[in-house]
Amino acid sequence: MDHFLYRDGALYAEDVPIYEIAAAVGTPFYVYSTATLLRHFQLFDNALDGMDHLVCYAMKAASNQAILKTLAQAGAGMDVVSGGEYLRAKAAGVPGDKIVFSGVGKTADEIRAALSGGIRQFNVESEPEMEVINAIALELGVVAPITVRVNPDVDAKTHAKIATGKSENKFGIPIARASEVYAHAASLPGLEVIGIDVHIGSQLTELEPFELAYTKVAELTEKLRSEGHNIRRLDLGGGLGIPYTRANDAPPLPVEYGALIKKTLGHLGCEIEIEPGRLIAGNAGLMVSKVIYVKSGEGRDFLILDGAMNDLIRPAMYEAYHDIVAVQEPAPGVEQQPYDIVGPVCESGDTFAKERNMPPLAPGDLVAFRSAGAYGAVMSSEYNTRPLIPEVLVHGDQFAVIRERPSFDEIINRDTIPEWL
Ligand code: LLP
Repeated sequence: MDHFLYRDGALYAEDVPIYEIAAAVGTPFYVYSTATLLRHFQLFDNALDGMDHLVCYAMKAASNQAILKTLAQAGAGMDVVSGGEYLRAKAAGVPGDKIVFSGVGKTADEIRAALSGGIRQFNVESEPEMEVINAIALELGVVAPITVRVNPDVDAKTHAKIATGKSENKFGIPIARASEVYAHAASLPGLEVIGIDVHIGSQLTELEPFELAYTKVAELTEKLRSEGHNIRRLDLGGGLGIPYTRANDAPPLPVEYGALIKKTLGHLGCEIEIEPGRLIAGNAGLMVSKVIYVKSGEGRDFLILDGAMNDLIRPAMYEAYHDIVAVQEPAPGVEQQPYDIVGPVCESGDTFAKERNMPPLAPGDLVAFRSAGAYGAVMSSEYNTRPLIPEVLVHGDQFAVIRERPSFDEIINRDTIPEWL
């Protein structure tokens, strides 16, 4: 459920008409609903009720500080994957002891920044990384709390580019080597081993892969405990999928996911962390764009929008489906017609949808891409010298621009010309 509904013939974000935001900020833009963000966070938080737990929002999904602050005020921690994300979370007021640091290639500078500023734990992905964290912790005179990310060799049954839990993926250490790696970690005086981390992929639409992975984590917990490690925290990653089409796909609900966690891991008495990103932000955001031209092609019509692949890259990159709706509610019974929906960027990959049935649309009409809140704005670029598009946050009947559209001068003046030119 989200808070983007038609009212009096027009699409609203909570109590604000989308056309009003478009008039104020211009198109294209991203708009997020506070109520939807909070609702999704609460679903996870409630699903783990009765267990000691922390929901660490995977801020890579949508990292605007206004979103982080909204979630942090509701009690969320953060999962960060870079020094930049760490600093952004801190800037949004998230305390270090609620930030977990994931990622396969943390640099020495990033590790130093997090150890100096305070960190809940590092999710360590390799032995070389472990050595570097140990050395920096000793240099700073602190002890770094760590989990080790294990790769359970489980097929997440998702798009190949976002599956991470098979042995051929670059992530974590093979679960079969865990005893050896944990013994190594325990021998390093700058580290304190507190738990185990696992994340098998994103946009999972079944519980079975989670069940396989978490069962392996449960077995590993007992094994490592018997080897003398005080395993007391389990970070279970993110990955629960969302419905991208409203009709025919229904991934498991957070409450079912929570029940699975309790079933597979509840007996261990560990503190549980989860790192959902997409489910919290995905359906809490729209990208709104305007039709520039309707062009008749060979056997099909093209809707040419002012938004493009640089603004929302998921269709080009993952063949992702996004529901696209007219902001003006189509009259009942209006005949739909197929359009290829494209942006102005100079490559055919800049196609959002092919032969998508839409009500008749004309230049100037607004359309909204649903499920664009996660991995939308954060993956955008300035390809074709197109400015990053603004982000807007709605709260009841209020809205605020939470990232301005940069001017062309700001973009162009970022370049510097060498003196020999
Ligand atoms: N934790 C770790 C260690 C991760 O790598 C990820 C996502 C998450 C948590 C959050 O997963 P989520 O709950 O959002 O599924 N750009 C892609 C998705 C990449 C996901 C990368 N890792 C897309 O647009 O589909």
